[in-house]
Amino acid sequence: MFLEKMLQSQGFGARKHCQQLIKNGAVEIDGVVVLNPKEKLKIEGLEFQVYGEKYTYREKVYIALNKPKGYECSHQATHHFSVFDLFDDILLNRGIQCVGRLDQDTTGLLLLTDDGQFLQALTHPKKHVPKVYKMMTVDEITDEQVQQLEAGVELRNETGIFAATNVTRLSANELQMTVHQGVYHQVKRMLAAVGNKVESLHRQQIGKFDLENLAEGEWIFLTEEQIQRAKQRDEI
Ligand code: URA
Repeated sequence: MFLEKMLQSQGFGARKHCQQLIKNGAVEIDGVVVLNPKEKLKIEGLEFQVYGEKYTYREKVYIALNKPKGYECSHQATHHFSVFDLFDDILLNRGIQCVGRLDQDTTGLLLLTDDGQFLQALTHPKKHVPKVYKMMTVDEITDEQVQQLEAGVELRNETGIFAATNVTRLSANELQMTVHQGVYHQVKRMLAAVGNKVESLHRQQIGKFDLENLAEGEWIFLTEEQIQRAKQRDEI
């Protein structure tokens, strides 16, 4: 691939802008400034620098963010920050999108990607990738509520029954459960349907990919193995 095309594919702007970066001597490969925009490159595993900043060539990007409170999953956030404020222009230029949504007041695992197929695979209603949520509730969680959540509840304006699996009371007001769909405000509505109320909500896991100890506001690029884990549809 030509150097100028490679830079463009990685989010460094229009072809003309990339040519200019190269001609300005901003781009280094293996410690050598490359001034030829048409330099032919092997892109596999390619590492390069732009103005001294290190980058790795990625055909597509897969990002796991620990979303903080107060961030919306939309580009034009109205009342809060946008999760896209947490990323630099290089990544934004690639057109990364959220894989599903979290409410502004929900924390935890949010995936972002510029791979449309991956996005489809994880958000398609028929694919049922399980997601693990932890929550604090306003009222103490009763045995009956746990049973109702496992048996399934109806949600207004939605078809079908919404059941959770692995519903586990972690303490009197703290619950963990796995859900298999992804309708609007699903967890909050399920808790309301059994007569309780979510006070705070956190997503811990998608498929078999666990957020582990990523700090709030931090993000990582997923490895191939982590991408496969996030797609896992087996019961978790
Ligand atoms: N369910 C909700 O109610 N809110 C979220 O943010 C995610 C799942």
